[in-house]
Amino acid sequence: MTFDRTIKIAPSILSADFASFGAECCAVEDQGADWVHVDVMDGHFVPNLTFGPAMCAAIRPHIRGVMDVHLMIAPVDPYIDAFANAGADIITAHLEAGPHIHRTLQAIRATGKKAGLALNPGTGIEAVEHLLDMIDLVCVMTVNPGFGGQKFIHSQIAKVERLRAMIGDRPIHIEIDGGITPETAPLMTRVGADVLVAGSAVFKGGSIDDPAPYGANIRAIRLAAERALPGTLA
Ligand code: DX5
Ligand code: ZN
Repeated sequence: MTFDRTIKIAPSILSADFASFGAECCAVEDQGADWVHVDVMDGHFVPNLTFGPAMCAAIRPHIRGVMDVHLMIAPVDPYIDAFANAGADIITAHLEAGPHIHRTLQAIRATGKKAGLALNPGTGIEAVEHLLDMIDLVCVMTVNPGFGGQKFIHSQIAKVERLRAMIGDRPIHIEIDGGITPETAPLMTRVGADVLVAGSAVFKGGSIDDPAPYGANIRAIRLAAERALPGTLA
């Protein structure tokens, strides 16, 4: 993976057809997705259950590009090797998932994978300063994690703006996750986000038999997001 700050759209397969994950991954990539975002939930850290490393390994051959694994689980450390072996390119853990996020990020980097740090909407960015040299991505949650289809939380815009200033020239992505649509994406790319996770806004209206709406949805988010980039004339 090479680093750049171009806008990337990362469909969350939480909104895909659960009976056809492999085909859904191929379909969104064919329709223009940059990364595929996989939401792992444990029914403990978040009030929902999704899938584990075996499912990630099963879909890996169906993803040509980046598999972005968002762990909403606690504890994290016992499962890092399993997700690395399943073929994740990025493994993101929550700051709130335990008392030793520094150790967790070290363990992710030790597998050779990119390390992501996710922040819930109620979490400040002070701690990120002490972790800047060990992360490749910060995921700012723009909903409370656990479910797709929730409403974007506007207070996170100021958080992203402050985070972007803190990151400076470091090669760290700012990913936003939750409630992203063509209306909300520009609010975040304007202040420095470069990876946009979207579940319901990408998968709505389409299916593996009729994937064209996925492409239209991805293009609509990308266009709105790119128009808001600093230095771009509206
Ligand atoms: C929420 C997940 C998100 C979610 C996004 O816990 O981390 O990735 O699936 O879904 P939408 O785009 O529908 O808000
Ligand atoms: Zn996610």
